[in-house]
Amino acid sequence: LFLGIDVSTTGSKALLVDEQGNVAATAVNEHSISTPKPLWSEQDPQEWWTAAAKSIRDALKQAGVSGEAVKAIGLTGQMHGLVMLDDKGTVLRPAILWNDQRTAEECEEITQKVGFDKLLRICGNKALTGFTAPKILWVRKHEPEVYARTAHILLPKDYVRYRLTGDFAVDKADGSGMILFDLNRRDWSPDLLKTLDIPESWLPKSYEGPEITGVVSASAAELTGLKAGTPVVGGGGDQAAQAVGVGAVTPGIVALTLGTSGVVFATTPSPLIEPQGRLHAFCHSVPGAWHFMGVMLSAAGSLRWYRDTLAPGMGYDDLLAPAADVPAGSEGLLFLPYLTGERTPYPDPLARGAFVGLTIRHTKAHMTRSVIEGVSFGLRDSMELIKNAGLGAINQVRVSGGGARSPLWRQMLSDVMDSELVTVNTTEGAAFGAALLAGVGAGTWKSVEESCNATIKTMEKTTPDRASVKIYESYYQQYTALYPALKPSF
Ligand code: XUL
Repeated sequence: LFLGIDVSTTGSKALLVDEQGNVAATAVNEHSISTPKPLWSEQDPQEWWTAAAKSIRDALKQAGVSGEAVKAIGLTGQMHGLVMLDDKGTVLRPAILWNDQRTAEECEEITQKVGFDKLLRICGNKALTGFTAPKILWVRKHEPEVYARTAHILLPKDYVRYRLTGDFAVDKADGSGMILFDLNRRDWSPDLLKTLDIPESWLPKSYEGPEITGVVSASAAELTGLKAGTPVVGGGGDQAAQAVGVGAVTPGIVALTLGTSGVVFATTPSPLIEPQGRLHAFCHSVPGAWHFMGVMLSAAGSLRWYRDTLAPGMGYDDLLAPAADVPAGSEGLLFLPYLTGERTPYPDPLARGAFVGLTIRHTKAHMTRSVIEGVSFGLRDSMELIKNAGLGAINQVRVSGGGARSPLWRQMLSDVMDSELVTVNTTEGAAFGAALLAGVGAGTWKSVEESCNATIKTMEKTTPDRASVKIYESYYQQYTALYPALKPSF
């Protein structure tokens, strides 16, 4: 068996997968999240380790096996979170998470010091509040006593790795989300570190996704039920591992994830960059591959907000059923899904949501439909950027995540993007991808691509409806005009 561990924002999951790709067990234990001040979002790293260790024990028990059965372990998790340790490995302050928005000034500082074009050229991205580097600068400015004691910087899943193996290590996909990486070198950028005055010795060694970074220690073995000496591979940030988990590992196959946030992910064969930095560009968990990514902050999260606010307690199927009878375009009602600010295509923490075009004729069903149409248009924004950034043909879009369970939403996405969509047999996402990377590290599969081919099958296909494609094309043009028009009022 291979063990995938996903240290997500909501909980730590342990997933056991066999060599055919069958899931033998899955267990999750939750984390709490704290917002001590507006815009802040923090977690206690100790909670990740406690939850992960318990999930591992739970999963072994569920599968009815001992730790001996686990050949290798892969880690994945929420990206960009800042964990600071002293020279004894003690956590110095709560982790500052990917969805923390306190660092607008530090992003400005990074852009000033490095220069916009140079930053984009080296790390593939512009400085955004979500990323790690601005968080480091924030601590230096606001908590100098913490900064002075810092000896190690880690990302969330790599803190769990440290507790599991005693090693300071990161994989290249997650590492590049710190924006201190040189995309071409697939390693830390000495130039960026020097310009920002961050000691290179604080950063963990970086490894490819399937590369072995260390083995389970005796003390961690005792706590988790794993066998001491079991190899642990690099793994990947949740988005790269999610892409592996649905088989989006070669150019031409795009992964579209419709969770709380929405992600459009495309593998690139070289470190391509979107000229204005509107797409994230990171290393992939696949050795020698990179990827583009558009991130929409409130995707299925918009529908959840809408349901909780206007139809509390209602199931999604019941909520969406009447929306299927509303014509494409919701008779002119448009929804802007920027309920928690946005990243792609507008990196704007202050962007806001809106219904535009309401008339007395519109019903609740129209509003429901326009919410998922607005999210679909927002995802198309990312798809358009990917198509225009020199990637070549997109042959297939693989959808996953809670929202993709709705046939209505799948058809809408297919029509809005004028693309064929497929679902896959694997639904465990990032943890599944991490388990596959472990299998490659253990030598069961020769490459990440081979591990995907051996375990992942496409299931349901949705093809665009020509009439709806045409209608949505014109509504999409109206949608794209809204953010620039409304921005002054946000
Ligand atoms: C990716 C991102 C999120 C987090 C949380 O850039 O910020 O997907 O990884 O899951």
